Amino acid sequence: MYAQMVKSTGTGVKSLDEMDPRERAFQERIDAGEKIEPKDWMPEEYRKTLIRQIGQHAHSEIVGQLPEGNWITRAPTLERKAILLAKVQDEAGHGLYLYCAAETLGVSRDEMTRMLLDGRMKYSSIFNYPTLTWADMGAVGWLVDGAAIMNQVPLQRTSYGPYSRAMIRICKEESFHQRQGFDIMMKMANGTAAQKKMAQDALNRFWYPALMMFGPSDKDSVHSAQSMAWKIKMNTNDELRQKFVDQTVPQAEYLGLTVPDDKLAWNEERGHYDFSEPDWDEFYDVLKGNGPCNRERLAARQKAWDDNQWVRDGLLAHAQKREAMKVAAE
Ligand code: 3HC
Repeated sequence: MYAQMVKSTGTGVKSLDEMDPRERAFQERIDAGEKIEPKDWMPEEYRKTLIRQIGQHAHSEIVGQLPEGNWITRAPTLERKAILLAKVQDEAGHGLYLYCAAETLGVSRDEMTRMLLDGRMKYSSIFNYPTLTWADMGAVGWLVDGAAIMNQVPLQRTSYGPYSRAMIRICKEESFHQRQGFDIMMKMANGTAAQKKMAQDALNRFWYPALMMFGPSDKDSVHSAQSMAWKIKMNTNDELRQKFVDQTVPQAEYLGLTVPDDKLAWNEERGHYDFSEPDWDEFYDVLKGNGPCNRERLAARQKAWDDNQWVRDGLLAHAQKREAMKVAAE
Protein backbone atom coordinates (compact mmCIF):
# COMPACT_ATOMS: atom_id res chain seq x y z
CA MET A 1 0.00 0.00 0.00
CA TYR A 2 2.72 2.43 1.07
CA ALA A 3 4.97 1.21 -1.72
CA GLN A 4 2.18 1.94 -4.21
CA MET A 5 1.66 5.40 -2.81
CA VAL A 6 5.34 6.23 -3.19
CA LYS A 7 5.55 4.74 -6.66
CA SER A 8 2.44 6.49 -7.96
CA THR A 9 3.86 9.93 -7.16
CA GLY A 10 7.38 9.46 -8.48
CA THR A 11 9.59 9.90 -5.45
CA GLY A 12 6.44 10.29 -3.33
CA VAL A 13 8.10 12.97 -1.21
CA LYS A 14 5.93 15.99 -0.49
CA SER A 15 7.50 19.44 -0.55
CA LEU A 16 7.06 21.60 2.58
CA ASP A 17 4.42 23.62 0.68
CA GLU A 18 2.34 20.51 0.05
CA MET A 19 2.30 19.50 3.72
CA ASP A 20 -0.36 20.38 6.27
CA PRO A 21 0.90 22.48 9.20
CA ARG A 22 1.46 19.48 11.49
CA GLU A 23 3.42 17.57 8.84
CA ARG A 24 5.45 20.68 8.05
CA ALA A 25 6.35 21.23 11.71
CA PHE A 26 7.34 17.57 11.95
CA GLN A 27 9.53 17.78 8.83
CA GLU A 28 11.16 20.97 10.10
CA ARG A 29 12.09 19.22 13.36
CA ILE A 30 13.72 16.43 11.34
CA ASP A 31 15.51 18.89 9.07
CA ALA A 32 16.86 20.65 12.17
CA GLY A 33 18.34 17.35 13.38
CA GLU A 34 15.93 16.89 16.31
CA LYS A 35 15.07 13.39 17.48
CA ILE A 36 11.48 12.18 17.31
CA GLU A 37 10.42 10.37 20.49
CA PRO A 38 7.63 7.78 20.96
CA LYS A 39 5.02 10.17 22.38
CA ASP A 40 5.58 12.86 19.74
CA TRP A 41 3.10 13.29 16.91
CA MET A 42 4.30 11.60 13.72
CA PRO A 43 2.77 10.94 10.30
CA GLU A 44 1.26 7.48 10.10
CA GLU A 45 3.52 6.56 7.17
CA TYR A 46 6.62 7.55 9.17
CA ARG A 47 5.48 5.18 11.94
CA LYS A 48 4.75 2.36 9.47
CA THR A 49 8.04 2.81 7.65
CA LEU A 50 9.94 2.62 10.93
CA ILE A 51 8.08 -0.52 12.01
CA ARG A 52 8.85 -2.11 8.64
CA GLN A 53 12.54 -1.22 8.71
CA ILE A 54 13.25 -1.78 12.42
CA GLY A 55 11.17 -4.98 12.45
CA GLN A 56 12.97 -6.30 9.38
CA HIS A 57 16.28 -5.42 10.99
CA ALA A 58 15.30 -7.17 14.26
CA HIS A 59 14.22 -10.30 12.39
CA SER A 60 17.55 -10.24 10.50
CA GLU A 61 19.49 -10.25 13.75
CA ILE A 62 17.53 -13.24 15.05
CA VAL A 63 17.51 -15.25 11.81
CA GLY A 64 21.17 -14.29 11.38
CA GLN A 65 22.03 -16.44 14.40
CA LEU A 66 21.09 -19.59 12.47
CA PRO A 67 23.90 -19.83 9.87
CA GLU A 68 26.53 -19.13 12.55
CA GLY A 69 24.88 -21.20 15.26
CA ASN A 70 25.39 -24.05 12.81
CA TRP A 71 29.16 -23.86 13.48
CA ILE A 72 29.30 -23.46 17.28
CA THR A 73 29.68 -27.17 17.90
CA ARG A 74 32.22 -27.50 15.08
CA ALA A 75 34.50 -24.53 15.81
CA PRO A 76 38.14 -25.63 15.40
CA THR A 77 39.34 -24.56 18.89
CA LEU A 78 37.82 -23.82 22.29
CA GLU A 79 38.79 -20.15 21.89
CA ARG A 80 37.07 -19.89 18.49
CA LYS A 81 34.00 -21.60 19.97
CA ALA A 82 33.82 -19.12 22.87
CA ILE A 83 34.20 -16.16 20.48
CA LEU A 84 31.52 -17.46 18.12
CA LEU A 85 29.17 -18.17 21.02
CA ALA A 86 29.59 -14.61 22.27
CA LYS A 87 28.97 -13.22 18.80
CA VAL A 88 25.79 -15.24 18.24
CA GLN A 89 24.59 -14.18 21.69
CA ASP A 90 25.26 -10.53 20.77
CA GLU A 91 22.98 -10.93 17.73
CA ALA A 92 20.17 -12.09 20.03
CA GLY A 93 20.73 -8.94 22.09
CA HIS A 94 20.61 -6.77 18.94
CA GLY A 95 17.30 -8.38 18.02
CA LEU A 96 15.94 -7.54 21.48
CA TYR A 97 17.03 -3.89 21.41
CA LEU A 98 15.43 -3.52 17.98
CA TYR A 99 12.17 -5.27 18.88
CA CYS A 100 11.97 -2.97 21.93
CA ALA A 101 12.56 0.09 19.72
CA ALA A 102 9.79 -1.06 17.35
CA GLU A 103 7.44 -1.72 20.29
CA THR A 104 7.59 1.98 21.19
CA LEU A 105 5.73 2.53 17.89
CA GLY A 106 2.73 0.50 19.03
CA VAL A 107 3.45 -2.94 17.60
CA SER A 108 4.19 -5.93 19.82
CA ARG A 109 7.03 -8.36 19.34
CA ASP A 110 4.47 -11.17 18.98
CA GLU A 111 2.74 -9.29 16.15
CA MET A 112 6.04 -8.73 14.37
CA THR A 113 6.95 -12.41 14.74
CA ARG A 114 3.57 -13.44 13.32
CA MET A 115 4.15 -11.06 10.39
CA LEU A 116 7.56 -12.66 9.77
CA LEU A 117 6.11 -16.16 9.87
CA ASP A 118 3.22 -15.43 7.53
CA GLY A 119 5.41 -13.53 5.04
CA ARG A 120 4.20 -9.97 5.70
CA MET A 121 7.63 -9.00 7.05
CA LYS A 122 11.06 -9.77 5.68
CA TYR A 123 14.56 -10.44 7.00
CA SER A 124 17.83 -9.78 5.21
CA SER A 125 18.37 -11.78 2.01
CA ILE A 126 21.91 -12.69 3.14
CA PHE A 127 20.74 -15.23 5.70
CA ASN A 128 19.20 -17.41 3.02
CA TYR A 129 22.66 -18.59 1.96
CA PRO A 130 24.26 -21.63 3.61
CA THR A 131 27.47 -21.66 5.66
CA LEU A 132 29.29 -24.66 4.25
CA THR A 133 32.79 -24.50 5.82
CA TRP A 134 34.55 -22.91 8.78
CA ALA A 135 35.93 -20.26 6.40
CA ASP A 136 32.33 -19.09 5.98
CA MET A 137 32.43 -17.95 9.63
CA GLY A 138 35.30 -15.70 8.59
CA ALA A 139 33.51 -14.46 5.46
CA VAL A 140 30.27 -13.82 7.37
CA GLY A 141 32.05 -11.76 10.03
CA TRP A 142 34.24 -9.90 7.56
CA LEU A 143 31.73 -9.30 4.74
CA VAL A 144 28.25 -9.65 6.24
CA ASP A 145 28.94 -7.83 9.49
CA GLY A 146 31.16 -5.45 7.50
CA ALA A 147 28.23 -4.61 5.21
CA ALA A 148 25.90 -4.38 8.22
CA ILE A 149 28.20 -1.82 9.89
CA MET A 150 28.45 0.23 6.70
CA ASN A 151 24.66 0.49 6.75
CA GLN A 152 24.26 0.85 10.50
CA VAL A 153 26.87 3.44 11.47
CA PRO A 154 24.90 6.20 9.69
CA LEU A 155 21.71 4.88 11.32
CA GLN A 156 23.08 5.98 14.70
CA ARG A 157 22.00 9.45 13.49
CA THR A 158 18.56 8.34 12.35
CA SER A 159 15.67 10.62 13.33
CA TYR A 160 13.78 8.22 15.60
CA GLY A 161 15.29 8.39 19.11
CA PRO A 162 14.84 4.76 20.29
CA TYR A 163 16.17 3.38 16.96
CA SER A 164 19.14 5.72 16.97
CA ARG A 165 20.07 4.82 20.57
CA ALA A 166 19.75 1.07 19.87
CA MET A 167 22.07 1.48 16.88
CA ILE A 168 24.84 3.05 18.98
CA ARG A 169 25.30 -0.07 21.08
CA ILE A 170 24.75 -2.41 18.15
CA CYS A 171 27.48 -0.72 16.11
CA LYS A 172 30.06 -1.12 18.89
CA GLU A 173 29.41 -4.86 18.96
CA GLU A 174 29.20 -5.24 15.17
CA SER A 175 32.63 -3.73 14.87
CA PHE A 176 34.03 -6.51 17.10
CA HIS A 177 32.15 -9.04 14.93
CA GLN A 178 33.71 -7.72 11.76
CA ARG A 179 37.19 -7.91 13.24
CA GLN A 180 36.77 -11.47 14.47
CA GLY A 181 35.66 -12.44 10.94
CA PHE A 182 38.69 -10.76 9.42
CA ASP A 183 40.89 -12.52 11.98
CA ILE A 184 39.53 -15.92 10.88
CA MET A 185 40.16 -14.96 7.24
CA MET A 186 43.74 -13.92 8.10
CA LYS A 187 44.44 -17.30 9.68
CA MET A 188 42.86 -19.21 6.80
CA ALA A 189 44.41 -17.12 4.05
CA ASN A 190 47.87 -17.50 5.61
CA GLY A 191 47.42 -21.16 6.48
CA THR A 192 47.85 -24.29 4.36
CA ALA A 193 47.01 -24.32 0.65
CA ALA A 194 43.74 -26.12 1.50
CA GLN A 195 42.81 -23.45 4.07
CA LYS A 196 43.57 -20.63 1.64
CA LYS A 197 41.39 -22.36 -0.93
CA MET A 198 38.54 -22.53 1.60
CA ALA A 199 38.94 -18.81 2.35
CA GLN A 200 38.84 -17.97 -1.38
CA ASP A 201 35.79 -20.19 -1.88
CA ALA A 202 33.99 -18.45 1.00
CA LEU A 203 34.78 -15.03 -0.53
CA ASN A 204 33.53 -16.26 -3.92
CA ARG A 205 30.20 -17.37 -2.45
CA PHE A 206 29.57 -14.43 -0.09
CA TRP A 207 30.74 -11.46 -2.20
CA TYR A 208 27.60 -10.85 -4.27
CA PRO A 209 25.10 -11.81 -1.52
CA ALA A 210 26.93 -9.25 0.70
CA LEU A 211 26.53 -6.58 -2.03
CA MET A 212 22.81 -7.42 -2.18
CA MET A 213 22.40 -6.64 1.53
CA PHE A 214 22.31 -2.92 0.69
CA GLY A 215 19.08 -3.41 -1.25
CA PRO A 216 18.16 -2.82 -4.90
CA SER A 217 19.97 -0.24 -6.99
CA ASP A 218 18.80 3.33 -6.37
CA LYS A 219 16.68 3.43 -9.52
CA ASP A 220 14.65 0.45 -8.20
CA SER A 221 14.55 1.37 -4.50
CA VAL A 222 10.94 1.99 -3.53
CA HIS A 223 11.41 3.62 -0.15
CA SER A 224 14.74 5.48 -0.29
CA ALA A 225 13.49 8.96 -1.26
CA GLN A 226 10.86 9.25 1.48
CA SER A 227 12.96 7.40 4.08
CA MET A 228 15.87 9.76 3.44
CA ALA A 229 13.64 12.83 3.68
CA TRP A 230 12.54 11.52 7.10
CA LYS A 231 16.13 10.54 8.04
CA ILE A 232 14.99 6.96 8.60
CA LYS A 233 17.69 6.15 6.07
CA MET A 234 20.77 8.37 5.87
CA ASN A 235 22.25 7.20 2.55
CA THR A 236 21.03 5.57 -0.63
CA ASN A 237 21.58 1.85 -1.21
CA ASP A 238 24.12 2.48 -4.00
CA GLU A 239 26.13 4.99 -1.95
CA LEU A 240 26.62 2.45 0.83
CA ARG A 241 27.34 -0.41 -1.58
CA GLN A 242 30.08 1.68 -3.22
CA LYS A 243 31.54 2.58 0.18
CA PHE A 244 31.59 -1.08 1.14
CA VAL A 245 33.38 -2.10 -2.09
CA ASP A 246 35.94 0.72 -1.67
CA GLN A 247 36.68 -0.37 1.88
CA THR A 248 36.67 -4.13 1.32
CA VAL A 249 38.73 -4.55 -1.87
CA PRO A 250 42.02 -3.43 -0.22
CA GLN A 251 41.26 -5.80 2.67
CA ALA A 252 40.87 -8.69 0.19
CA GLU A 253 44.19 -7.68 -1.38
CA TYR A 254 45.82 -7.67 2.05
CA LEU A 255 44.52 -11.21 2.59
CA GLY A 256 45.94 -12.25 -0.80
CA LEU A 257 42.45 -13.23 -1.99
CA THR A 258 40.73 -12.33 -5.26
CA VAL A 259 37.36 -10.60 -5.38
CA PRO A 260 35.29 -12.65 -7.87
CA ASP A 261 34.64 -9.81 -10.29
CA ASP A 262 36.46 -9.47 -13.65
CA LYS A 263 35.26 -5.89 -14.02
CA LEU A 264 36.60 -4.72 -10.65
CA ALA A 265 39.00 -1.82 -11.28
CA TRP A 266 40.03 1.39 -9.57
CA ASN A 267 38.54 4.36 -11.38
CA GLU A 268 40.95 7.27 -10.93
CA GLU A 269 38.48 9.82 -12.22
CA ARG A 270 35.66 8.81 -9.86
CA GLY A 271 37.98 8.01 -6.96
CA HIS A 272 36.10 4.74 -6.46
CA TYR A 273 36.23 1.12 -7.61
CA ASP A 274 34.11 0.16 -10.61
CA PHE A 275 32.46 -3.17 -9.97
CA SER A 276 29.83 -5.56 -11.36
CA GLU A 277 26.30 -5.34 -10.02
CA PRO A 278 24.94 -8.40 -8.28
CA ASP A 279 22.46 -10.57 -10.18
CA TRP A 280 19.25 -8.73 -9.32
CA ASP A 281 17.05 -11.59 -10.58
CA GLU A 282 18.66 -13.78 -7.94
CA PHE A 283 18.07 -11.08 -5.29
CA TYR A 284 14.35 -10.79 -6.06
CA ASP A 285 14.04 -14.56 -6.24
CA VAL A 286 15.55 -14.85 -2.74
CA LEU A 287 13.11 -12.15 -1.52
CA LYS A 288 10.25 -14.23 -2.94
CA GLY A 289 11.33 -17.14 -0.74
CA ASN A 290 13.32 -19.13 -3.29
CA GLY A 291 16.85 -18.78 -1.90
CA PRO A 292 18.85 -21.86 -0.91
CA CYS A 293 17.82 -21.69 2.77
CA ASN A 294 14.58 -19.61 2.95
CA ARG A 295 12.39 -22.57 3.86
CA GLU A 296 14.86 -23.91 6.41
CA ARG A 297 15.24 -20.51 8.11
CA LEU A 298 11.51 -19.86 8.38
CA ALA A 299 10.88 -23.42 9.54
CA ALA A 300 13.42 -22.87 12.35
CA ARG A 301 11.67 -19.65 13.42
CA GLN A 302 8.26 -21.36 13.24
CA LYS A 303 9.53 -24.24 15.37
CA ALA A 304 10.95 -21.85 17.99
CA TRP A 305 7.61 -20.00 18.07
CA ASP A 306 5.60 -23.23 18.46
CA ASP A 307 7.95 -24.83 20.98
CA ASN A 308 7.89 -21.73 23.16
CA GLN A 309 4.12 -21.26 23.25
CA TRP A 310 4.10 -22.64 26.80
CA VAL A 311 6.49 -19.88 27.94
CA ARG A 312 4.25 -17.16 26.50
CA ASP A 313 1.16 -18.82 28.04
CA GLY A 314 2.88 -19.07 31.43
CA LEU A 315 4.00 -15.43 31.39
CA LEU A 316 0.56 -14.25 30.36
CA ALA A 317 -1.13 -16.33 33.10
CA HIS A 318 1.34 -14.93 35.65
CA ALA A 319 0.67 -11.34 34.54
CA GLN A 320 -3.10 -11.91 34.65
CA LYS A 321 -2.87 -13.42 38.15
CA ARG A 322 -0.81 -10.47 39.42
CA GLU A 323 -3.32 -8.04 37.91
CA ALA A 324 -6.24 -9.90 39.56
CA MET A 325 -4.44 -9.84 42.93
CA LYS A 326 -3.79 -6.11 42.55
CA VAL A 327 -7.47 -5.44 41.82
CA ALA A 328 -8.56 -7.62 44.80
CA ALA A 329 -6.20 -5.71 47.13
CA GLU A 330 -7.55 -2.29 46.10
N1 3HC B 1 16.99 -8.33 2.11
C1 3HC B 1 15.64 -8.42 2.14
N2 3HC B 1 14.83 -7.45 1.68
C2 3HC B 1 15.41 -6.34 1.18
C3 3HC B 1 16.80 -6.15 1.14
C4 3HC B 1 17.61 -7.22 1.62
N3 3HC B 1 18.93 -7.17 1.59
N4 3HC B 1 17.06 -4.96 0.60
C5 3HC B 1 15.88 -4.39 0.30
N5 3HC B 1 14.89 -5.23 0.64
C6 3HC B 1 13.47 -5.03 0.41
C7 3HC B 1 12.91 -3.86 1.20
O1 3HC B 1 12.53 -4.28 2.50
C8 3HC B 1 11.73 -3.45 0.34
O2 3HC B 1 10.67 -4.40 0.52
P1 3HC B 1 9.33 -4.04 1.38
O3 3HC B 1 8.74 -2.81 0.78
O4 3HC B 1 8.49 -5.26 1.22
O5 3HC B 1 9.78 -3.85 2.79
C9 3HC B 1 12.24 -3.68 -1.05
O6 3HC B 1 13.29 -4.63 -0.95
C10 3HC B 1 12.72 -2.42 -1.75
O7 3HC B 1 13.93 -1.93 -1.17
P2 3HC B 1 14.17 -0.42 -0.70
O8 3HC B 1 15.55 -0.03 -1.01
O9 3HC B 1 13.09 0.46 -1.25
O10 3HC B 1 13.91 -0.64 0.86
P3 3HC B 1 14.50 0.11 2.14
O11 3HC B 1 14.45 1.58 1.98
O12 3HC B 1 13.85 -0.47 3.33
O13 3HC B 1 16.07 -0.29 2.14
C11 3HC B 1 17.55 -1.55 3.56
C12 3HC B 1 16.51 -1.58 2.43
C13 3HC B 1 18.80 -0.81 3.06
C14 3HC B 1 17.91 -2.98 3.91
C15 3HC B 1 16.94 -0.78 4.77
O14 3HC B 1 15.74 -1.40 5.15
C16 3HC B 1 17.83 -0.70 5.97
O15 3HC B 1 18.75 0.09 6.00
N6 3HC B 1 17.53 -1.49 7.01
C17 3HC B 1 18.21 -1.44 8.29
C18 3HC B 1 19.39 -2.35 8.32
C19 3HC B 1 19.03 -3.80 8.21
O16 3HC B 1 17.89 -4.22 8.16
N7 3HC B 1 20.05 -4.62 8.17
C20 3HC B 1 19.92 -6.04 8.15
C21 3HC B 1 21.26 -6.53 7.82
S1 3HC B 1 21.70 -7.92 8.68
C22 3HC B 1 22.14 -7.51 10.24
O17 3HC B 1 22.12 -6.41 10.61
C23 3HC B 1 22.54 -8.64 11.15
C24 3HC B 1 23.99 -8.50 11.51
O18 3HC B 1 24.21 -9.30 12.60
C25 3HC B 1 24.90 -8.91 10.43
